[in-house]
Amino acid sequence: MVTSVLVTGGIGYVGSHVAVELIEKGFDVHLVDNFSNSSVQQLDGIRQIISPSKSVSFYEANIGDTEKIQKILREQNIKAVIHCAGDKSVAESVLMPLKYYDNNVGSSISLFKAMESCGVSILIFSSSATVYGIPKGIAISEQAQTAPVNPYGKTKLTIENILNDLCRSGSKWKTMNLRYFNPAGAHVSGLIGDRFDNHPSNLFPIICQVLTGKRENLSVYGNNYDTADGTGERDYIHICDLAKAHVEALQFLLQSHNSPIPGALNLGIGKSVSVLEVIRAFEDSCNLQIPYKIETQRPGDIGKYFADPRAAQKNLSWTPQKSLKDMCRDTWRWAQNSASTTVDEN
Ligand code: UD1
Repeated sequence: MVTSVLVTGGIGYVGSHVAVELIEKGFDVHLVDNFSNSSVQQLDGIRQIISPSKSVSFYEANIGDTEKIQKILREQNIKAVIHCAGDKSVAESVLMPLKYYDNNVGSSISLFKAMESCGVSILIFSSSATVYGIPKGIAISEQAQTAPVNPYGKTKLTIENILNDLCRSGSKWKTMNLRYFNPAGAHVSGLIGDRFDNHPSNLFPIICQVLTGKRENLSVYGNNYDTADGTGERDYIHICDLAKAHVEALQFLLQSHNSPIPGALNLGIGKSVSVLEVIRAFEDSCNLQIPYKIETQRPGDIGKYFADPRAAQKNLSWTPQKSLKDMCRDTWRWAQNSASTTVDEN
């Protein structure tokens, strides 16, 4: 029997790529999104990517709208939820913590209540390596201490804790917290990707702004870190590899009798690359120069860290396939496509 899955934040950056992977693997997929950080362009993109024989339904709703979510869960006979909805700007979370506690934690509790009342107890949660805060080591395993240093990270950890408590409560809940390192890239079609028209703070969308002429140059935040070339190093993982891990995690939960231990898995590739290496890889991929200037370190930034991804690879029989070059090439294809269709909000 085909399993019906609801993806919250279904037309956002992560949700849209997860949706495509689920549909390709034969799941019956339903998306919910409130357009807070997404556009109908992503939904069109998903529909263009999937084969004509397949379909996906879309509901414009807040996940905090319990009645509406209950209605979708019942009408579509949903068996599992992949929960990607949430606000994700670290800087904004520092300025507006209540917004983050409300939209991330409050809405998640509403979603979980709606699920419980409809007997839906399988959930994959979009978490973040941000839960580790300032890491003590460089290769971070799931056993590393969790000590988030900003409201955004704290909301992620709070939701993880709620899910862990639900699993411990003796009820039927089976959940998995997927801690993303640095998702990058776009679907190979160039039809869906990470928005860069809305004041991005992450490296890849900012590079898209430079490449498409929306920004004069890239500020490289610091060249005096204790790294090979002095610039910050991160563990970038292709968004399609990340999306595939969600499908594997879902299969894992569907087949397991109890909630799994560990309840959290790191999604990264297990090595870091520097800002200058990303710039060079982009320049090679698109045959354009990326003008940049070295600035002081960004407050709160960490020099270098990457995932110890062995638990995800072992438990999910999953290995990331795509390279940094793939991330740059696919991002560039998406940037060219979407630059011609999006409205500039800057
Ligand atoms: C950021 C978030 C993190 C989130 C992750 C998702 C912060 C403090 N952390 O992490 O919570 O989970 O994104 O991808 O915002 N860089 C530049 N110039 C720029 C932008 C970035 O040099 O204009 C550098 C940064 O200093 C860093 C690297 O690029 O070394 C990656 O930065 P970014 O994409 O913002 O990710 P993180 O800081 O790792």
